[in-house]
Amino acid sequence: MFALVSILFASFLAPEVSAVIGGDLNCTVYNGTFFVWTPAAVQCQNTIADSSCAILYPTTDTLGLPAAGNNAGRPLACYTTATATPAAVVPDMKTAALANCPKTCGYCCNTDAYSCKNADFPRLNCATITNSQCNSPAWRTIIASDCPSACGFCGQGGCVDAVTNCGNDLSICQNIGMQDFVNNYCQKSCNRCPSTTTSAYGGVTGGSCSSYIADTTTQCAAWASNGFCTNNFYTYAQRRQRCATTCRLC
Ligand SMILES: *[C@@H]1O[C@H](CO)[C@@H](O)[C@H](O)[C@H]1NC(C)=O
Ligand SMILES: *[C@@H]1O[C@H](CO)[C@@H](O)[C@H](O)[C@H]1NC(C)=O
Repeated sequence: MFALVSILFASFLAPEVSAVIGGDLNCTVYNGTFFVWTPAAVQCQNTIADSSCAILYPTTDTLGLPAAGNNAGRPLACYTTATATPAAVVPDMKTAALANCPKTCGYCCNTDAYSCKNADFPRLNCATITNSQCNSPAWRTIIASDCPSACGFCGQGGCVDAVTNCGNDLSICQNIGMQDFVNNYCQKSCNRCPSTTTSAYGGVTGGSCSSYIADTTTQCAAWASNGFCTNNFYTYAQRRQRCATTCRLC
């Protein structure tokens, strides 16, 4: 009995002694057991060489540096001048880390390209978007409109090229035979972004009103959780006509 109790006690204590993300919990998500790094924590590049960051921000964690899904401790110098945990966040240290080594420090989600509001009712879970989704033609345009912060698409106005090399040859934008292609894959470079992109934000940007017309169906909450409010398959007018209140569409 005593052995059982001490095992329970030990496993209860385990999270305390294993790796714990230090400082603030920015760029982490609770996975049911631990706070772990989100993909967006490490999605960006350091602005100075990775090798320099490794020297400036050495890690003492056996798990190594922050990586998506692990709970490696944030290197101390990323957020504090103290030499042992727990340590209080020193804002200047965090600012310097953000400017130079956001990837090494797991602070990518706090950089400008990664910190903006996602859609109110995104069609996918913004917290679990992976690096390969950020680079995938099938995902990029949906992510840009619903979860811009997950891939560093903030400031793109909700619209990106679905493939990453449209800019190599902008003459394709004018080429008659390429119109289907550029309309699908080079919306940003060829200026094909739908002008309604802003309304994809569930009424946030169109939200100058303080009251909304009534929903016309009790299904709105369920539809909203399935992404109806931001689904460009329906026009803004159609979404507003059905679920103006739930979707907060002026
Ligand atoms: C992010 O960091 C800031 C300051 O470092 C802190 O005030 C804020 O509470 C943190 N947010 C989360 C979700 O941990
Ligand atoms: C939570 O993250 C920890 C550390 O990476 C991992 O060991 C654990 O299996 C994860 N738990 C769940 C439920 O995903």
